[in-house]
Amino acid sequence: MTAGQPPAPQPQRVDPYVGQYAERAVGMVASEIRALFAVAARPEIISLAGGSPYVAALPLDAVGDMVGQLIARRGDSALQYCTAQGDAGLRERICDVMALEEVRAHPDEIVVTFGSQQALDLLARIFIDPGDVILAEAPSYVGALGAFAAYQAHVVHVAMDDDGLIPEALEEAIRRTAAEGRRAKFLYTVPNFHNPAGVTLAAGRRPRILDICQREGLLVVEDNPYGLLGFDGEPMRALRADDEEGVVYLGTFSKTFAAGVRVGWAVAPAAIRDKLILAAESAVLCHSSFAQLTVREYLTTQPWLEQVKTFRELYRERRDATLSALSSMMPPDCHWTRPAGGFYVWLRLPDGVHAKAMLPRAISSRVAYVPGTGFYADGSGGQYARLCYSFPDPGRITEGVRRLASVIQTEIQLRDDFGPATGTP
Ligand SMILES: Cc1ncc(COP(=O)(O)O)c(C=O)c1O
Repeated sequence: MTAGQPPAPQPQRVDPYVGQYAERAVGMVASEIRALFAVAARPEIISLAGGSPYVAALPLDAVGDMVGQLIARRGDSALQYCTAQGDAGLRERICDVMALEEVRAHPDEIVVTFGSQQALDLLARIFIDPGDVILAEAPSYVGALGAFAAYQAHVVHVAMDDDGLIPEALEEAIRRTAAEGRRAKFLYTVPNFHNPAGVTLAAGRRPRILDICQREGLLVVEDNPYGLLGFDGEPMRALRADDEEGVVYLGTFSKTFAAGVRVGWAVAPAAIRDKLILAAESAVLCHSSFAQLTVREYLTTQPWLEQVKTFRELYRERRDATLSALSSMMPPDCHWTRPAGGFYVWLRLPDGVHAKAMLPRAISSRVAYVPGTGFYADGSGGQYARLCYSFPDPGRITEGVRRLASVIQTEIQLRDDFGPATGTP
């Protein structure tokens, strides 16, 4: 503690403001596994949990020089406020990035956000009244579920398989919602290298999903942080490329450049774009000019596409290490997805083995993962675990999977001796 610094505040036993919070804040609770994640950050634990990109693979000296020059040459704008829609030069460069996925966008259609997480929050803010239905894949990105929950949405999950969202399941979810006299506000989907499921929406399904949504007048929110991180062939054609009026596209530089710059964007039809800008203005006035100009400078002066290739190769090697360790070490009755890009493998545990109940024992064995329950709005998914391979090197991944396999083996033994876990850690 620094001399003269007051002691850290103690947790309050009774919150004197308890009756005064807005209803939506009452539902905001810390994740049950947050405490375990603090432990999982210790170096002796191999974490297959957090979805952090491997930013150490960036040319940090070159980025440092670039940032220094940016401040020296253009500090007057980099350190100043800017507009809520975002820097015009950056928005032009974002159009070039999206062209790689065949999206033709004008810079005026783009709203820069504080990571794509903020775009999710802004969309929730402008679309969701308490109780509104949102359709979302089963499972879904935990941060999107958190944003929707903060605005008291009712999430209806739509099943996926190894080819991504199932069109028939989408039709069925729309029918069920209509039968209850309700109408979903939008469909939330991560078509490429899904977080957490690791699967990709098959090319043949994309027009079918769009057809269904167009027919039903259902807006699509296409969240695409990993689209450029495919291990085979060219990037997939974005949904937005085939429907400019019915799709809001979300992108981010978190996985292709640096998560710490917190720069993402949304491309939306004009009316939605205008609401997003107003919502962004009331949330943050404007985004960090410094971060935006850093990204713009990076895209303009650095070989960023080469760097994306470097990331792809690095993650491919880590994916391969994960899959080969799983194949050789996992007990029978475990199943997992085989991602063709991105960061995640979705592991199904044997019947009667519960991922959340198992987590403390995994941490004692010095390996961490995310239990599947966080990726379902209704808390189901206990039979699944998300393994993220982006951060540990292949040697640690192999050792992490070995430890996990041994923990699962012990759980199977416990199940056989005492019956299935209940899911309570
Ligand atoms: C599917 C998905 N959407 C959105 C985000 C948020 O990314 P960011 O706010 O860093 O742009 C993530 C981060 O992991 C993600 O996996």
